[in-house]
Amino acid sequence: MALKKVTIVGAGHVGATCAYNIANRRLADVVLVDILEGVPQGKALDMTEATPLTGGDCKITGTNNYIDTQDSDIVVITAGLARKPGMSRDDLLFKNVAIVGSVVEEIVKYSPDAILILVTNPLDAMVWVAEQKSGFPRERIMGMAGVLDSARFQSFIAMELGVSQENTHAFVLGGHGDTMVPLSRYSTVAGVPITELMTSEQVARIEDRTRNGGAEIVKLLGTGSAYYAPGEAVAEMTEAILLDKKKILPVAAKLQGEYGVDGLFVGVPAVLGAAGMERVFEIELTEQEQVEFDNSVAHVRELVKKLES
Ligand code: NAI
Ligand code: 2OP
Repeated sequence: MALKKVTIVGAGHVGATCAYNIANRRLADVVLVDILEGVPQGKALDMTEATPLTGGDCKITGTNNYIDTQDSDIVVITAGLARKPGMSRDDLLFKNVAIVGSVVEEIVKYSPDAILILVTNPLDAMVWVAEQKSGFPRERIMGMAGVLDSARFQSFIAMELGVSQENTHAFVLGGHGDTMVPLSRYSTVAGVPITELMTSEQVARIEDRTRNGGAEIVKLLGTGSAYYAPGEAVAEMTEAILLDKKKILPVAAKLQGEYGVDGLFVGVPAVLGAAGMERVFEIELTEQEQVEFDNSVAHVRELVKKLES
């Protein structure tokens, strides 16, 4: 049986890591695209040469030509600039909007039925741009952020309590920025909410570290931003879709009335399966959580307004 095809646009840190993870999970043939000549080809060849050791037979191709992306099942867009120390994700807005717009035009030409996963920052605004450009239905367009932010929260929970990361579960909702909402009440260790396992000071401290998780890595690296966890988060979403898992993951999905929001992409739990973002999964929020979520939505709305004006 022919393997599925996943295109990754942007062969930089995040794009290359996504490609490697998807191939290592043996999910699909991968096409890596970039404007830099030689870079996607070189990285694809390097990954291919790792395959005899990692196993699997997924084909990994590097290219500068969109014709090679034809009929992709999923397209992941990581093309664009990354943050430098002192920059917020929002500082990237006008730099990346043009890049994402031009990439989406090419993708729609060659893969009109693909499912799009946006990664480029500022994430919630870039998914909106991609939707405007593609006209794809909401099932086939989403952004990756919540899986990453939740994984960070899980790591901090495991570190704080000295337990296995595998015992942790966490949910982070809202926009991918300083206003994101780590939902501690729904975050657990072996099924027990962390609010019953930690003091409120501990909870507040790791929630705060989660909100600043991206900036913490940017500061340490000195140049560029995180890519191992982001690359794995994309692979997780890709796997849920290609294997039709119906897995509930937090993704930037277009809301149509859910959580009191209409027409914006915001991070919420959603069911991912063969059709893409198959259903927004609604959970009860306390008054305080809803206030924080609304604040995050307001920030996403501001970003989108800047693009509309
Ligand atoms: P990078 O600089 O390593 O790679 C970006 C790549 O995009 C470069 O190879 C560049 O040549 C390519 N590119 C630029 N314009 C292009 C175009 N028009 N067509 C094709 N390729 C093009 O950056 P990195 O670290 O891979 O980050 C990529 C983006 O992902 C950034 O905007 C970053 O902020 C974002 N990001 C988002 C995350 C999330 O949770 N949503 C997590 C991590 C990064
Ligand atoms: C991150 O959270 C920069 O959005 C990127 O690491």
